[in-house]
Amino acid sequence: SLAGLDDPLPTPNRTQDRSHPSVAPSTVGAFRNEPDTDSALAGNRAWALRVLERSADSTLGVDTIAAAAVTDAAALETIVAGAVAAGTGWGATPAHDRARILHDAGDVLAAFRGRLVEVMASETGKTIGEADVEVSEAVDFAHYYAERALDLDHVTGARFVPSTLIVVTPPWNFPVAIPAGSVLSALASGAAVIIKPAPQARRCAAVMIEALWEAGVPREVLQLVDIEEGELGRALIADPRVDRVILTGAWETAALFRSWRPELPLLAETSGKNAIIVTPSADLDLAVADVVRSAFGHAGQKCSAASLVILVGSVASSERFRRQLVGSARAVRVGYPQDPTVEMGPIVEPAHGKLLSALTELAPGEEWLVKPRQLDETQRLWSPGVKAGVAPGSAFHLTEYFGPVLGIMTARTLDEAIALQNASDYGLTAGLHSLDPDEVAHWIDTVDAGNLYVNRGITGAIVRRQPFGGWKRSAVGTGAKAGGPNYLLTLGSWVAVAEET
Ligand code: SER
Repeated sequence: SLAGLDDPLPTPNRTQDRSHPSVAPSTVGAFRNEPDTDSALAGNRAWALRVLERSADSTLGVDTIAAAAVTDAAALETIVAGAVAAGTGWGATPAHDRARILHDAGDVLAAFRGRLVEVMASETGKTIGEADVEVSEAVDFAHYYAERALDLDHVTGARFVPSTLIVVTPPWNFPVAIPAGSVLSALASGAAVIIKPAPQARRCAAVMIEALWEAGVPREVLQLVDIEEGELGRALIADPRVDRVILTGAWETAALFRSWRPELPLLAETSGKNAIIVTPSADLDLAVADVVRSAFGHAGQKCSAASLVILVGSVASSERFRRQLVGSARAVRVGYPQDPTVEMGPIVEPAHGKLLSALTELAPGEEWLVKPRQLDETQRLWSPGVKAGVAPGSAFHLTEYFGPVLGIMTARTLDEAIALQNASDYGLTAGLHSLDPDEVAHWIDTVDAGNLYVNRGITGAIVRRQPFGGWKRSAVGTGAKAGGPNYLLTLGSWVAVAEET
């Protein structure tokens, strides 16, 4: 039986063998990134198999999300009024008390690793590898923002006034790490939170919130509401008692929120259309591996994913590069996450709309190097696709698809490639593979994106080490990066007092 396998057990053991779960005796002020599960350890592989077996018929989060259902305006009013009252008290709590609770929340999230992986695999089809790193990121957010909460009292020249109530509307593609990061930042800043999970990932949010409640975050301060995205959703966003909204989702959703309430203070991480440039000086073996991982990790369903690779000069005509890219894309093991060897899982919903077109259609000049195949009747399981001949200014060059299809573009020079990379309305992540320091320096100075990656993959930001946030249409109202030192400062108001003495 797995009972108790991932229950929080206080023990000084810092082993990363997940078959012996531990809560590290960590303290506020000593931030360290949480390690991922090391699958070299046999105990961890056994643990993973048991977690994935349970995911096949998991019911985690079901009761919590059922209890969070809100179906009428009166019930929503009660929740908002309760959260406003609780937020006033939470904001007046000394920062070190909030930090202590949030720090404990990180430890409980770590102890919930098995449950969180189970519910992600069950509800969204995330593979164990992708789900495991997400738990580490959630733990990091808790420990890191707990420390940053302490900074708020030490800014000179102005005083930080917390928001009373922040609404969080997270996405489904990082169904634990992103809601955790948004909720924890808001709580650390001293605000009460109402979180409305994405419909595709309700149970994931519910289990993550259970961990935070278990750690001692008061239930009135952190409320989960499962509401329709129609009139009630609009009423919540438009409610003037909501001081701020933290959204991660499509740019169009941010625009919709703004149309409902023009003066809304909104912090939104939005869409991306990201490319990796490969120059003739690059290590081509490394470039192929990084492009494939960035394009097909989580089946391309990351705002940070590589949707394009731009080949410069001789790389554009390199048979070897093309062969390796095709071979690597074909070799990706696709399936459901209950099989721990699977590298790419299903997409979250049956392919439809523009993603279905991108997976099945070619524009003039395009050709399939690897044609995506539908692997079962669900329309969710697709093998990776690679299309060559993507034309500048074409739909594939400029549209975000959020699925397992990569386009190849070519350029004569690095500057031409940068122009193609910068042509996007978005500016989230960007990659360069080059071993020439002058090319690297020039590219860093010229590319219009918030997160730049050189000679590595372009997904997988890490709290504190590589804080995350985009430019252009990839962000609305942000500036400070999530997981970075200044994020909490954007979540409240600042008052400067001049006093004659
Ligand atoms: N933070 C994620 C990444 O870096 C995207 O949201 O891949």
